[in-house]
Amino acid sequence: MALSFDTIAEVALSRDLLRRWYGLELGLAAGDGSGYERTSHDACETIRKQPSSHCAGSLKEVASALAQRKDAAALVHRCHAGLVIVAAPVRATTGLAGIVYASGGRPADVTAAASADSIANATGAAAADATALAAHAPELAEADLVRIKDLVAAAAAAVERAQPTTIPPTTFTHPFTEIVGDAPAVREVVKLLGKVVKSEATVLIHGESGTGKELIARAIHYHGPRAKKTFVVQNCSAFNDNLLESALFGHVRGAFTGAVKDQKGLFEVADGGTFFLDEIGDMSAALQVKLLRVLQEGTFMPVGGTKPVKVDVRIIAASHKDLQAMVEKKQFREDLFYRVNVLKITVPPLRERVADIPRLAAHFVAKHWKNPGQAPRLAQSALARLVAYSWPGNIRELENEVERMLVLAGDAQELTGSMVSSRLGGQAVGMPRTLRDSVAVAEADAIVAALGRHSGDREAAAIDLNVSRGYLDARITTLGLQT
Ligand SMILES: Nc1ncnc2c1ncn2[C@@H]1O[C@H](COP(=O)(O)OP(=O)(O)OP(=O)(O)O)[C@@H](O)[C@H]1O
Ligand SMILES: [Mg+2]
Repeated sequence: MALSFDTIAEVALSRDLLRRWYGLELGLAAGDGSGYERTSHDACETIRKQPSSHCAGSLKEVASALAQRKDAAALVHRCHAGLVIVAAPVRATTGLAGIVYASGGRPADVTAAASADSIANATGAAAADATALAAHAPELAEADLVRIKDLVAAAAAAVERAQPTTIPPTTFTHPFTEIVGDAPAVREVVKLLGKVVKSEATVLIHGESGTGKELIARAIHYHGPRAKKTFVVQNCSAFNDNLLESALFGHVRGAFTGAVKDQKGLFEVADGGTFFLDEIGDMSAALQVKLLRVLQEGTFMPVGGTKPVKVDVRIIAASHKDLQAMVEKKQFREDLFYRVNVLKITVPPLRERVADIPRLAAHFVAKHWKNPGQAPRLAQSALARLVAYSWPGNIRELENEVERMLVLAGDAQELTGSMVSSRLGGQAVGMPRTLRDSVAVAEADAIVAALGRHSGDREAAAIDLNVSRGYLDARITTLGLQT
């Protein structure tokens, strides 16, 4: 983890408070629990030196618990010697980047004697040594654990914010630059597109809502020989049957009440170009027959008409439903299915291309940044939350979220984790609710940071904050920052 743990102000402050209030030490380990640099307490220092030490194993357990509980800000775990580990995650786009923890306290519900027994069992230490270690471990009540969790989580959040944001450059270049993605499934789709655009065959695009079906349909049209002609879209589930028929095939004057003149249908509008039929699985049986005729003969009959109309239209159909299964249940015509399913493109949902989320998010920041000047950067803390969410609405939902963040950010230089909707990442650590709370949190943050910069020296912090020493003392008391 490329970061400077010791120079981050909030880390320095949390460490200071943990030392003074609880006699604990703040430690940092890698995301898999290995490579921990500090142990928490004298008791831990000693246990770790025992030849049979399992400290590393305990941190690995913590790491896997944190990796599973994606929304946890901090958790309390008992180590192999029965002592407490309070740990908070440092999340990155690639997963858990690190663990910030405090360890070595004795749970209040375990007596010193019982703790000595478990230390002796776990480490093989002589009874007298184990008793000395247990006596030395601070007793931590439930209320203490709540505050320790906050301090450890605050330090971890600061480490998370301090990490550099990196979006690996893609090695995959292709002409379909509007389609962003590097995941194997996306590469497959793009490779297939290269062939599809050259042919005239009907294409069926299958994928969940918001996965980019229309984007792909447009790419096929605009990268192919029909690019200069019209691209027409019709969603087949949006209309009732009569309206849809009239929209697709047009009608002649007097065909129904209100048909006061001849009206061209979309198939005629699309003549020479491409017709994208979205949600084709929602088409009625009657319209399926008419569509089949267009595909087979290139002709159709306007509503109320007597003369068939001939058109040259490339058809691209899309569905989020499994048409094959619908054929088996007799809900979709088999002959139409084979006509439509000549070339099939399956668009993967976002959960199968999680590694593309940072790249897509950055793409949407650029796409929706309308102001002059440089678009804001995406902070690691924001990317970590975006990556951790499971996106039922797929790419469209991710795009909406980025747009929302841009609105929230105003003219800020950076989009941070706290701008991500709370429904995505659980509440951000210490996320304020009311204006009064927000002000208090911001003020406390500023005081805490200033104290951190000056190693707790209030005189120097007051000068830095441009307030009197007396005022600073009063605010520290009111905001509960008192040690
Ligand atoms: N791979 C991608 N790269 C860049 N933008 C994408 C990608 N996939 C989807 N998008 C964007 O996400 C949004 C949703 O995509 P699109 O409308 O094509 O999805 P859809 O599958 O047709 O969705 P729906 O089922 O809701 O109609 C669009 O703004 C689109 O530009
Ligand atoms: Mg669509």
